[in-house]
Amino acid sequence: MNYQEIFKRLWEDYIHQNPAAGKIHKLFTDAGEKVENDHIAFRTFNDPRMNIDVLAKVFIKNGYVEKGQYVFKEKHLFARHYEHSGDKKAPRVFISELILQDFSDSLQNIVNHSINQVPDETYRSDDLIFSGSLFPQPSFEVYSKLREESEYAAWLYVFGFRANHFTVSVNALKKYNTIEKLNEFIKAAGFKLNTSGGEIKGTKADLLRQSSTLADQVKVSFTEGVFEIPACYYEFAERFKDANGHYYSGFIASSADKIFESTNFYKK
Ligand code: NI
Repeated sequence: MNYQEIFKRLWEDYIHQNPAAGKIHKLFTDAGEKVENDHIAFRTFNDPRMNIDVLAKVFIKNGYVEKGQYVFKEKHLFARHYEHSGDKKAPRVFISELILQDFSDSLQNIVNHSINQVPDETYRSDDLIFSGSLFPQPSFEVYSKLREESEYAAWLYVFGFRANHFTVSVNALKKYNTIEKLNEFIKAAGFKLNTSGGEIKGTKADLLRQSSTLADQVKVSFTEGVFEIPACYYEFAERFKDANGHYYSGFIASSADKIFESTNFYKK
């Protein structure tokens, strides 16, 4: 496996799971644009069997190195980002983990019980990042209970290990080369943007501006029946040069904090 194969495999699952992302990608290619991927993101729990280091392993084997760390105090998340050491065109990888110890015993018990259902060797496999949900069929009642404390935990309980989002690099677009132009284009095509913290997160002074769609609603088969819940979203990132003339390559925690909310539960 090389890194291109990893991204290809993740992309196929991602557009299957989130048809809107595939449609938006096609909007750009139909408009003559070449879509480059700024980054992808994964979510996990900080349990040592499946924490950031475990998910990062397959990327590190394929030439990636750690480049930054981020703390999301309110959401009780920690994250690292990775970049390919040789290929500047390779997308960044952003991996966050939920700090379980910050939550109630009830949440920790639910999560530990789910994690314990899966054999340890499954977590050690290089295929972990492609495996989706490994936990037994989810319960809507448990999903709703997790949401009371953490939308992130609820999402992860249902969707598991897969790209939570891909990100269109605004810098690589010719016509839609600012986040404003891109947002108008996406909205005119009928897609809804995440408006938490405003449509555009970050400023030119931060060196990174981002927006994202609201996650697609998908039908999930819970033990109680089929319910529609938000799955994954598509993100857009515009990067700016720093004082030394280098494009900023990291992430802005205060912006990412709002973007996490793209998967919050909402009724259609
Ligand atoms: Ni992102």
